[in-house]
Amino acid sequence: MQVHHTVASLRAARATAGRVALVPTMGNLHDGHIALMREAARHADTVFASIFVNRLQFGPSEDFDKYPRTLEADCEKLEAAGVAHVFAPSEEEMYPQPQRYHVDPAPEHVSILEGAARPGHFRGVATVVLKLFNVVRPDVALFGKKDYQQLMVLRNMVAELALPIEIVAQETVRAADGLALSSRNGYLSAAERAEAPRLHRELAAIVAAVRAGARDFAKLEAAALAELEKNGWKPDYVTVRCRADLQTPQGGDEPLVVLAAARIGATRLIDNVEI
Ligand code: PAF
Repeated sequence: MQVHHTVASLRAARATAGRVALVPTMGNLHDGHIALMREAARHADTVFASIFVNRLQFGPSEDFDKYPRTLEADCEKLEAAGVAHVFAPSEEEMYPQPQRYHVDPAPEHVSILEGAARPGHFRGVATVVLKLFNVVRPDVALFGKKDYQQLMVLRNMVAELALPIEIVAQETVRAADGLALSSRNGYLSAAERAEAPRLHRELAAIVAAVRAGARDFAKLEAAALAELEKNGWKPDYVTVRCRADLQTPQGGDEPLVVLAAARIGATRLIDNVEI
């Protein structure tokens, strides 16, 4: 496996790599990321991963400086997962001058859910991902469904800007008790970790109810919010949305997803399940 710190070195490697899959990450890798790498190998001749902690997607009150940087351990995991090339640029290499041009996702896609809690976040994500796409020129790129809104924004960016890249979505990897894998799980105390799977259980209960014919989404959402609050959570939202654009369902038969974000202690967890 080769680790590239410059665009020039990365591009030289890409030139002879055939069909390329890219898995963009910010490092601090867990088994969910590794599942993405393994899936990537099924879609391409050569798997590229990127590791770059993207300043543009952090808000002023979010701790960009404290984000764990674990390049050496990450590279060991990537090599074991069959990744051929890692792009790990410095801040200066990626943003050699202040980045003055940005991708502005559709306001209706980013003023809701995670975007409401984190203004500017998806602009930062879309901008860095477009830039990574331009550097690596992958044929296919893979993203996890855990960040469902991110996936939706990136799918729309690729479609509306006609980028010649196939987007593959990977199912969320869960612990045996249902908790979605996330680097944030490491912040949970033992008691919080024991409580954390409730978030997924509440989502699964809504999925089961809707599949059984329930259509009063507001009632289902309110019951889940109450159950979380009763158990010490501070929920931001539990909401049934249309998969394609994450807008409120209008009563048709469009594919749905239920999404949640809630704080347990000092840690904010997100999760979702397709219905
Ligand atoms: O999902 C992430 O880790 C990041 O948002 C991404 C897609 C690598 C962009 O920085």
